[in-house]
Amino acid sequence: MTKITGRLAVAIGVQILAAVFLFGAGLRAAGQKQAQAKPAQAAPKINASEYRNSPVPPNPANPPGPVQPIPYSHKLHLALGLQCNLCHQNPGNGALMTLPTAQTCMSCHKAIAADKPPIQKLAEYAKSGRPIPWVRVYVLLKGVNFSHKTHIAANVQCVTCHGDVPQFQVMHEATSITAMSVCLKCHMMNKAPTTCKTCHSWPDYKY
Ligand code: HEC
Ligand code: HEC
Ligand code: HEC
Ligand code: HEC
Ligand code: HEC
Repeated sequence: MTKITGRLAVAIGVQILAAVFLFGAGLRAAGQKQAQAKPAQAAPKINASEYRNSPVPPNPANPPGPVQPIPYSHKLHLALGLQCNLCHQNPGNGALMTLPTAQTCMSCHKAIAADKPPIQKLAEYAKSGRPIPWVRVYVLLKGVNFSHKTHIAANVQCVTCHGDVPQFQVMHEATSITAMSVCLKCHMMNKAPTTCKTCHSWPDYKY
């Protein structure tokens, strides 16, 4: 019974999506017709490279960030002039940016603020070799394909999708980047692929 309801919900979802797509396509078609009807007026041009980095909409819920095992502040550290890639690298196939190990932090904190309780906790993680259990902030559903490497190669900046990180005392889900409509909007504007299979692994994905 639950299964049928679930399928029904997905079917309705897909129909709504289809309607949204048709509506969007209709609007675009209407836009093109209008542009054709008035040849004297220059058709509005979308500057793809500019649009690529117009910030994604803020997250309407704007939840406070989770409590982290160590109260790390992007604001404080980025003001020191550190680059993102000191702590966020893009190894392997490049899907993930990864979170820093205690060793990365200890390159400074062996000497800096070493007497402070959070830094002593940091030193314990570094000594034990246990990874710091950072709590994730932006999380996509399983089975949705997203790769940082693709987007970095396409010259989309970190702040476009993650907000004004250098101002964040506490990292939080500041933008709506995990919403499908946000992915789609940017893909449409930039002529990036928009088939379902671009981003979804179903029906192959095993939940
Ligand atoms: C096109 C939008 C986009 C861009 C550009 C982007 N991110 Fe992300 N980021 C995401 C999404 C979506 C997730 C969630 C991914 C998931 O759950 O699989 C995420 C997750 C993360 C994570 C946590 C998971 C992980 O990958 O380890 C980190 C750290 C991160 N991003 C840092 C960065 C940094 C640093 C940059 C710039 C070099 C950047 N992001 C650029 C959309 C983006
Ligand atoms: C380039 C050097 C550098 C690196 C790398 C670095 N920090 Fe810092 N951190 C600092 C400086 C400088 C301060 C300010 C110290 C002060 O005000 O006394 C600071 C302050 C802090 C504080 C506040 C300490 C307190 O209670 O006063 C915490 C917590 C902290 N860092 C955590 C981290 C973590 C976690 C990492 C790794 C993800 C990290 N830091 C990496 C330089 C660094
Ligand atoms: C000195 C290390 C350091 C630097 C430099 C740094 N970060 Fe981070 N970042 C962290 C740590 C530690 C976390 C995990 C704790 C947290 O979320 O606050 C994190 C978390 C994040 C997340 C949340 C990932 C998720 O979904 O869980 C994003 C997004 C992010 N950083 C973006 C950036 C961007 C963009 C830059 C450069 C402008 C940057 N960071 C520079 C240490 C760093
Ligand atoms: C550009 C990327 C992208 C494309 C293309 C895309 N989606 Fe999505 N879709 C997403 C993201 C991101 C989510 C939200 C994941 C989350 O909440 O973490 C999502 C969520 C969904 C969900 C609800 C959650 C689930 O996985 O069951 C459905 C249903 C869905 N999409 C259907 C479609 C259909 C049908 C198409 C093709 C017409 C499509 N999507 C194309 C990115 C995309
Ligand atoms: C700010 C713009 C922007 C946002 C937001 C964005 N993308 Fe993209 N995406 C691009 C561009 C540009 C490309 C590169 C297209 C190319 O290289 O031809 C791309 C490529 C991709 C590709 C590879 C497509 C292929 O077959 O080459 C996937 C998968 C993808 N994006 C998924 C997502 C998902 C999932 C989201 C939302 C969580 C998302 N994107 C959000 C701009 C964006």
